[in-house]
Amino acid sequence: MASTARAEERLTVHLTVNGQPLEETVDARLLLVHFIRDVLELTGTHVGCDTTSCGACAVLLDGRAVKSCTVFAVQADGRDIVTIEGLEQNGAPHPVQAAFFEKHAMDCGYCTPGMVISGYSLLQRNGDPTEDEIREAISGNLCRCTGYANIVDAIRTAAEHQRNGGTV
Ligand code: FES
Ligand code: FES
Repeated sequence: MASTARAEERLTVHLTVNGQPLEETVDARLLLVHFIRDVLELTGTHVGCDTTSCGACAVLLDGRAVKSCTVFAVQADGRDIVTIEGLEQNGAPHPVQAAFFEKHAMDCGYCTPGMVISGYSLLQRNGDPTEDEIREAISGNLCRCTGYANIVDAIRTAAEHQRNGGTV
């Protein structure tokens, strides 16, 4: 029996999104970004291109930043997703989000959710990144407004807060 899902097929997935276990039946070809935005109505995850290049759609998949336009929703079956909405802590911005605000690391804000997710992911595995490491971590995220300097500064600031006892 063929194990490959046909494009028109609908499949049931079980996953956790922002700490909440979910069961949904979705088209086999539905992209994770559209599942997040259109099915779950979590619109903080953005769509900025159709070429897998902008990173505005970044989410955490089992703790690592991925471009959710490159993943089918069914590939998230059994896995843990965190979107930008899931980073807030008891209604307050996450320290990485707060650092973006503190350092004015946004203009139009379209890239910001993806940038924050990539910065968060970096700080989970490297608490004291160099500027080059920060720039490498956000190399899959495009920003048309800021010139990147304040974004790098914000991620560095969040890392400093983390090392000084804050949580990131
Ligand atoms: S929407 Fe541009 S990389 Fe996913
Ligand atoms: S702030 Fe506008 S694209 Fe980055």
